[in-house]
Amino acid sequence: MIDDLWYKNAVIYCLSVGTYMDSNGDGIGDFKGLMRRLDYLHGLGITAIWLMPFQVSPNRDDGYDVSDYYGVDPRYGTLGDFVEFTHGAKQRGIRVLIDLVVNHTSNQHPWFKEARRDPNSKYRDWYIWSKKKPPRANQGMVFPGVQKSTWSHDPEAKAWYFHRFYDFQPDLNTSNPEVQAEILKIMGFWIQLGVSGFRMDAVPFVISTKGANVRKPEEQYDMLRFFREFLQWRQGDCIVLAEANVLPETDMEYFGKDGERMHMMFNFQVNQNLFAALASADTRPLIKAMKATKPRPATAQWGVFLRNHDELDLGRLSNQQREQVFAAFAPTPDMQLYNRGIRRRLAPMLDGDRRRLELAYSLLFTLPGTPVIRYGDELGMGDDLKLPERNCARTPMQWSNEPHGGFTQSDKPHVPVISGGPYGYEHINAAIQRRHPDSLLNWTERIIRMRKEVPEVGWGDFAIIPRLHVY
Ligand code: GLC
Ligand code: CA
Repeated sequence: MIDDLWYKNAVIYCLSVGTYMDSNGDGIGDFKGLMRRLDYLHGLGITAIWLMPFQVSPNRDDGYDVSDYYGVDPRYGTLGDFVEFTHGAKQRGIRVLIDLVVNHTSNQHPWFKEARRDPNSKYRDWYIWSKKKPPRANQGMVFPGVQKSTWSHDPEAKAWYFHRFYDFQPDLNTSNPEVQAEILKIMGFWIQLGVSGFRMDAVPFVISTKGANVRKPEEQYDMLRFFREFLQWRQGDCIVLAEANVLPETDMEYFGKDGERMHMMFNFQVNQNLFAALASADTRPLIKAMKATKPRPATAQWGVFLRNHDELDLGRLSNQQREQVFAAFAPTPDMQLYNRGIRRRLAPMLDGDRRRLELAYSLLFTLPGTPVIRYGDELGMGDDLKLPERNCARTPMQWSNEPHGGFTQSDKPHVPVISGGPYGYEHINAAIQRRHPDSLLNWTERIIRMRKEVPEVGWGDFAIIPRLHVY
């Protein structure tokens, strides 16, 4: 039966261990704290957690710069704590997906250190080098305005290295069979510790050809099948949820015609057009995006989302649509990012208007696919635009009206808790909302229950019902 594939009817909750719950008063969330909140998550009704990177990292990109793939960053606990956590989640019927960030490492990773130090080291070829500055070094940046180039000079190696993202994130040479074998080993390791799959970071870049002479990078889709086969052999119900903001015509390349590649992909097309529709009160962009992303193999699934930990990327809309979304939801420059997106949380984008929030969530929970919600959105948490770039929407979870929202006993949380104003923890927190039957938290709990009772939303077909457009 295809309709009982777990990921087709999951409700996925994305959280970052460092900002969820601090158990030891050092101002940083940790696995022990997260363990204490598993019953909250169970009560909310979610069935899977997507855990953002927690591996050892200098933390210059919120953990998306890994320096040891096989360890837990000591700030968050130990491998033992991690296993306690996956076990606790399993006991409550909650699956755990973790981020797999293998397009690049941190420049502090021992592999990179070895690669730059010794040209004869086997690790040299694990990265992408060039003796001379490549002609296209100033193209293809993922963070325009912040990131200056995609190639930087390394004085120690006396060579240039490629980095699709920030300069402290050297790209791995993912075409190297040894690197591919290492990626499988990393996946195998975490599966053994209790995870049910991976949110694979930056997939188009992972599978792309890379190098100073590569004029037009090409995706090597067969790599996706290679990853999936390994997972399936090791543990049949393990999945990959791909982060690939690509055009609909390549979707099937990612899923595979027979569903032999990625199990899930985030639906960036629907995401952007949903906001275009909300901004214009015109459903047509959304309908178009739904139709464009309709084809998929029976075993494949979309991850539907409103906001995530990154900016709301509007790069695939027309200029006019993008301006309209900016005008409606992020009118001032400090709310926008990378010349293409919005860095706010959902609630402030919708002016905290309960009816609009319910409309947005009703869509999220009924569109074809599996809903992915972001921690704190069940409370209508806000953002802190004083924090740089995407950090504004990564503030600690607001549990109660105790100091620092009950997130930590420390006087100095590592990331400030939102305080004061309409979104401060004094008003917006789980403890208050749990007591009010009509709170957003309880409303979200009910819609999650509804979604689980209507599994055909997850695996069924859909048709657009014609309606009269009223303008
Ligand atoms: C992905 C992540 C983002 C991160 C980047 C580099 O786009 O979502 O947060 O900065 O990859 O790993
Ligand atoms: Ca802590």
